[in-house]
Amino acid sequence: MTADVFVTRQLPEPGVAPLLEGGVEVDYRDDDSGCPVAELRERSAGVRGMLTVLSDRLDAATMDAAGPDLAVVANCAVGFDNIDLAAAAERGIVVANTPDVLTEATADLAWALLMATARRIVEGDRLVRSGEWRSPSLVLLLGAPVHAKTLGVIGMGKIGAAVARRGAGFGMPILYHNRSRRPEVEAELGAEWVELDDLLERSDFVSVNAPLNDTSRHLIDAAALARMRPTAILVNAGRGPIVDEVALVEALRSGRIAGAGLDVFEREPVLADGLAELDNVVLMPHVGSATTETRAAMVRLTGENILAVLAGREPPTPVR
Ligand code: 8YV
Repeated sequence: MTADVFVTRQLPEPGVAPLLEGGVEVDYRDDDSGCPVAELRERSAGVRGMLTVLSDRLDAATMDAAGPDLAVVANCAVGFDNIDLAAAAERGIVVANTPDVLTEATADLAWALLMATARRIVEGDRLVRSGEWRSPSLVLLLGAPVHAKTLGVIGMGKIGAAVARRGAGFGMPILYHNRSRRPEVEAELGAEWVELDDLLERSDFVSVNAPLNDTSRHLIDAAALARMRPTAILVNAGRGPIVDEVALVEALRSGRIAGAGLDVFEREPVLADGLAELDNVVLMPHVGSATTETRAAMVRLTGENILAVLAGREPPTPVR
């Protein structure tokens, strides 16, 4: 018999328990590797719900392979650029995501990258472990000052605002660029809306927190990088393809900008040539939301989204 819900990848606690408690039959792919397309299509045939992750591409063909009973695709992520929303809408499939629960954890990680890159934490760690460190030195590992420097936030959604709030705590003037003005963030943090070029030219730290879509793809290209200060640091805990990674490697290599802290990449897990050889980057494997509490909240919310739709109710966090 076909299960009600296909879960495409291994989940952290509480796993599939909420779904089982909700009384649905689950086909659980308890494996922490990306689900191959053929398997995705085969195992979702006939299901009513799919619990998906970013590595699953939910295009029209995969939705059709699941068939007409597919009512809900619940992504265990706030981003949903892996899902063809138009195709889902045409088929009457509800798409849901996990906003809010991961806002602070993701902002913490963006901030960790900012600090680690500015103060050369990874280089320092490597030096101490190597046994090559000779003595406290006045000229060793000089980094970039953070306090009271200017923070530019690209994408002032919930995560962008949480990053900006941390910046305000460090006495930083906040610039932001967003499709629409955010008066409440301006009032709370004194943040100033500016054109993208202005933000790039004036910021000491540029944090990318925009969603990936046709407008944001390669928003940070060679020309944008050329506008940044040579002392500036780029932080990306949003989506890799927003930054032209080949151009970024060139800008970092040539000293066009000072450094980058990256949690996301254009072709994960593949890196642009030369990126891994640079000392002025801190690289993390797309773990923005990876705290025990946050991941558990994401799993619970994803389960609630599925159970609600299968019970004929509005899910708590649909993508609109
Ligand atoms: C990932 C994210 O889902 O929510 C998002 O959009 O990018 C993250 O929370 C998570 O890191 C697994 O890749």
